[in-house]
Amino acid sequence: MINVTRQIDKLYDRVAEMVASLPLPLKEHINRTCDLARRLGKIHGVDDKRCALGALAHDLARHLEGSQLLMQSREKNIPLNSYELDSPVLLHGPLAAVWLESDLGCDDEEVVNSVRYHTTGRPSMTNVEKIVFIADKVEPEKLTGNSGLILVAEKIEVDLDESILEYLKLRIRSVMQQNKVVHPLALETWNYLIQEE
Ligand SMILES: [Fe+2]
Ligand SMILES: [Fe+2]
Repeated sequence: MINVTRQIDKLYDRVAEMVASLPLPLKEHINRTCDLARRLGKIHGVDDKRCALGALAHDLARHLEGSQLLMQSREKNIPLNSYELDSPVLLHGPLAAVWLESDLGCDDEEVVNSVRYHTTGRPSMTNVEKIVFIADKVEPEKLTGNSGLILVAEKIEVDLDESILEYLKLRIRSVMQQNKVVHPLALETWNYLIQEE
């Protein structure tokens, strides 16, 4: 256990060094997400250090241009589907997950998956994944002037699943209203959680 904690602490320091070189607004978003993920971990009895590590790493590749995301994802043999080819920004999670797992040697599958799936979610997310997912969506800065998200944020301390459902409802509805494509993983996440309720 001590070794596992030490590995998480070490990884946290290495990821923090990488975050330090990111553009300021991104860095600030990551830090707010990380603070919230840590707090949610404590509230819900989930290892807060692992939640914080996932949150710290989630947007490591968010500053890259679409062409860079595509190129680097191909180099890392990340499978590309039509959604990602159309919208390469979707690759920033999967790419950061590969950096964390392969380049930094993180063998904590839940933490790696929390980074990989933080944009869309996925069915049967673990608690670490759920916390990183929702912390990213409702960190304090995102709530300003968004009454829908405030409703989501009110649920995060009480029930993670309910807060994720509330967020997905908001998100999927808005994507549909804009006549845009809904990512299948977001829909699958919705279906999974609503059946669980
Ligand atoms: Fe992201
Ligand atoms: Fe983010």
